Amino acid sequence: MLYFAPCFFFLLQIFTTTTTTTTARTPPYRATDYILLNCGSSTNSTDHSNRSWEGDERSKYAPSTASTSSSALQASSQHSSVNTVPYMTARVFNSRFTYTFPVLMGPKFIRLYFYPNTYSNYNTTQSFFSVSVNNNFTLLNNFSADLNSPSASNPSFMKEYLINVGENQRIDLTFSPNQNSFAFINGIEIVSVPDKLYFKGNGVPIKFIDQLYYLQDNTVLENLYRINVGGTNIEIQDDSGMFRAWYQDDDYIFGDYGFYPHLDVQIHYTRQTPPYSAPEKVYTTSRTMANTSKSLEWHFPVDSGFYYLHRFHFCEIQLEITKSNQRVFTITIDNQTVDAEVDVIFLTGGTKIPIYEDYITWVPDDGRHGKKDLCLSLFPARESHPLYDNALLNGLEIFKLSDPSGSLAAANPEPLPDDGESGGMAIRPVNEKRSRKHLVIIGSVIGVIALIIAAIIISFLSFRSGTTRTSGSGSSLPSNLCKHFLLDEMKSATDNFNDNFVIGKGGFGNVYKGYINNGATAVAIKRLNSSSNQGVHEFLTEINMLSKLRHLHLVSLLGYCHENGEMILVYEYMAHGTLQEHLYNSENSLLPWKQRLQICIGAAKGLHYLHTSSKHTIIHRDVKSTNILLDERWVAKVSDFGLSRVGPTGGLHTHVSTLVKGSFGYLDPEYYRRQQLTVKSDVFSFGVVLFEVLCARPPIILSLPKEEVNLAEWAKHCLKKGTLEQIIIDPSLKDEIAPECLSIYIETALMCLRDRGTERPAMSDVVWSLEFAMQLQEAAKKIDGDVAMDIVGGGFSPLEKPISFPLLWNGGGPNSTDHEEMFSGSSEAASRSKCSGFLSSSASSSSGGARIFFHRGHYKT
Ligand SMILES: *[C@@H]1O[C@H](CO)[C@@H](O)[C@H](O)[C@H]1NC(C)=O
Ligand SMILES: *[C@@H]1O[C@H](CO)[C@@H](O)[C@H](O)[C@H]1NC(C)=O
Ligand SMILES: *[C@@H]1O[C@H](CO)[C@@H](O)[C@H](O)[C@H]1NC(C)=O
Ligand SMILES: *[C@@H]1O[C@H](CO)[C@@H](O)[C@H](O)[C@H]1NC(C)=O
Ligand SMILES: *[C@@H]1O[C@H](CO)[C@@H](O)[C@H](O)[C@H]1NC(C)=O
Ligand SMILES: *[C@@H]1O[C@H](CO)[C@@H](O)[C@H](O)[C@H]1NC(C)=O
Ligand SMILES: *[C@@H]1O[C@H](CO)[C@@H](O)[C@H](O)[C@H]1NC(C)=O
Repeated sequence: MLYFAPCFFFLLQIFTTTTTTTTARTPPYRATDYILLNCGSSTNSTDHSNRSWEGDERSKYAPSTASTSSSALQASSQHSSVNTVPYMTARVFNSRFTYTFPVLMGPKFIRLYFYPNTYSNYNTTQSFFSVSVNNNFTLLNNFSADLNSPSASNPSFMKEYLINVGENQRIDLTFSPNQNSFAFINGIEIVSVPDKLYFKGNGVPIKFIDQLYYLQDNTVLENLYRINVGGTNIEIQDDSGMFRAWYQDDDYIFGDYGFYPHLDVQIHYTRQTPPYSAPEKVYTTSRTMANTSKSLEWHFPVDSGFYYLHRFHFCEIQLEITKSNQRVFTITIDNQTVDAEVDVIFLTGGTKIPIYEDYITWVPDDGRHGKKDLCLSLFPARESHPLYDNALLNGLEIFKLSDPSGSLAAANPEPLPDDGESGGMAIRPVNEKRSRKHLVIIGSVIGVIALIIAAIIISFLSFRSGTTRTSGSGSSLPSNLCKHFLLDEMKSATDNFNDNFVIGKGGFGNVYKGYINNGATAVAIKRLNSSSNQGVHEFLTEINMLSKLRHLHLVSLLGYCHENGEMILVYEYMAHGTLQEHLYNSENSLLPWKQRLQICIGAAKGLHYLHTSSKHTIIHRDVKSTNILLDERWVAKVSDFGLSRVGPTGGLHTHVSTLVKGSFGYLDPEYYRRQQLTVKSDVFSFGVVLFEVLCARPPIILSLPKEEVNLAEWAKHCLKKGTLEQIIIDPSLKDEIAPECLSIYIETALMCLRDRGTERPAMSDVVWSLEFAMQLQEAAKKIDGDVAMDIVGGGFSPLEKPISFPLLWNGGGPNSTDHEEMFSGSSEAASRSKCSGFLSSSASSSSGGARIFFHRGHYKT
């Protein structure tokens, strides 16, 4: 029944809106260049908005109209919805033709107006042409105005581009008809744009999935959508001086939704969001979620094979919401999280203050730059426990970015069915919502049934996996899960191995984040250098071996690609990135102790499995905090064993001789000295990781006093001198670690660091000790300290030397500033941190302290 109810509006209170008489006021921005050219006309004329258009016949912008290469013609018929100016006249070109506009340097909108029609004996159904700017950028190619027309009943439309004019201070707009065809144009508009409104400068990054994207000044943008979310259409003369039209979102919104009624409040623009960013009407209307829905969702058809810039406009005007953490939401685009936590009050510092956030996404090519629905979704970020379960959006702009060759050209849409109502998608599809809504309703009912079935299956499966796990096997998955991918699939997943998709680099080559299954599944794609010394035979042998390694705590190899000399490995994608970027040098929230311990246990289990579970012993050789990855549920998975060494199968040899490989700060000194690799080298490195987790510091900090530089050396040094309390534990763990747990943990870590490999524990022992530490931690929470100590005394006491407690907590103590400095000292790792760019970069604009407070909220319960 729920699903058939009409839209429920999320109204906590109802406000009466007072209508004020809008007196003509000067817009906040006055264009320095403003040209309106009515093509095919010889006179000046005024349009329905009282804007004055100049005829292009013998215009200074089109000196060659006198020649015979073009004709000024009248449309043979007029639709009632189509404006006379500039649409009823057109200039038709039989050969290449260029308009030249002298303008000032800086960004400009170029708006092209088209009215598919018949002009004299030119029927535009036969017209295919391209349009370029400054001989350098292709705006349109093989373009058919008829096929791009939004609807048969209202066929005229405008296409808007944004270009940066350089020092040559001119815009050359060239129309080139296809062979045996002709080109035409009804109107051209050029309007200057404030310098930093859309192009922030080449050095200013924009959030791009998990990373940053640098939008260059030599990119051309095409605006596809400009939406006044939850509000009405805004006419060009009501824009802030750039004559942008804003449309209501009814045609694009999906499912149930609410809106917050327009409040006649004064918006406080800021330096960051100046008055020309968007008109007040955009910020004073919004959508919020209906009770019945889980998210706000919009679908926008776009051209595939391009990057898109999405500008989300926000302004918190709802009276109940005045503080941070009252409404916090997540934004996803095509199921990819582009921002995990948006808290408008936190970002702006108060109510009625507008702000916009930019995100860039990539829409994989369908092979011909065809249309694809882009799905934008906003839903409450429940992990931060906001007071209200809701999301908010006031306005939205979507721009297509020109490709590296400077082109924005895409395929023409399929021809329209001729019913006069159904939507094309060039500018604004006509209302298709009614039919879509039914789909949603039916879909929901089916969805509920599917969910019930899924729940039954899942509970059955988890019961089964529960039983198998207790019998000690996580490895029974079939090896045919390793898929052979085509090179084309890999290219399409990564925009032809574009650097923007790189999430990691190594001696072997780059790791890219990509999307397979039509963009539905994120994967990590490791592309081996052709110069990598691995031969094809070894590569394939290794895949064969690795694809058989399946374990909850190992990153799974999903497949490979071996084509055209390329050697590519495809792994599951780990949403939370590396362990390291949750420990230090990043603005991620700090992990609580139990979660850290759980991650260590997981990683230790993964290594144990590598060491023992296959016919060959596999030595990882590069255990470090950046090779322990975290999935979306924070499960630790060991990665990068792809190039591991296969150890001896048994018998007399217990090591392999090899060139020393590994990472600074983690390297087993014995392996280094003797160049003999054993599983105990991994154990040593894991010991370093354990201290890294406890102290939240890199294994090497060159700026520290000599004995403290190397974390492993420093820990051993302290053990020898009986001054373990000098080890500085991560201050954020204060009061969290039970002393008994800490004792076992440090002891385990120290045993891993022993000089002689034979004296170090096996990974199975490490797993056991860490699990025991976890039990102590949990016991300490439940019962009094005394009893917990009894457990230590009675059960497990392998301590060789008693460890003195308490350790020094570096909270507000005298050392705290040193401590800070020592961490900020090496920001290199932070800039390398890959998978959490979003949170970090969103935080960078505001004060870090408050942000951390926020994220802490996460773990309070
Ligand atoms: C049209 O307007 C332009 C500038 O506004 C002016 O220079 C030109 O003389 C006008 N042309 C006619 C035919 O009125
Ligand atoms: C139209 O614009 C002209 C000047 O461009 C102005 O004098 C006139 O009052 C305007 N008309 C209306 C109805 O706004
Ligand atoms: C233009 O061409 C189309 C397709 O060939 C045709 O359906 C239409 O009637 C033509 N229009 C005129 C006015 O001749
Ligand atoms: C054309 O664009 C490229 C980059 O897209 C730029 O390097 C070059 O200078 C441009 N050439 C002209 C003539 O503007
Ligand atoms: C929507 O939420 C409000 C406040 O929680 C509640 O009073 C109202 O009954 C809900 N409406 C529906 C249809 O669930
Ligand atoms: C031009 O577009 C038309 C219509 O979409 C298409 O049929 C034709 O193949 C295209 N021509 C080229 C050269 O791409
Ligand atoms: C997003 O995820 C849903 C559910 O997993 C799936 O049905 C849908 O196809 C996905 N959409 C895209 C664009 O990947």
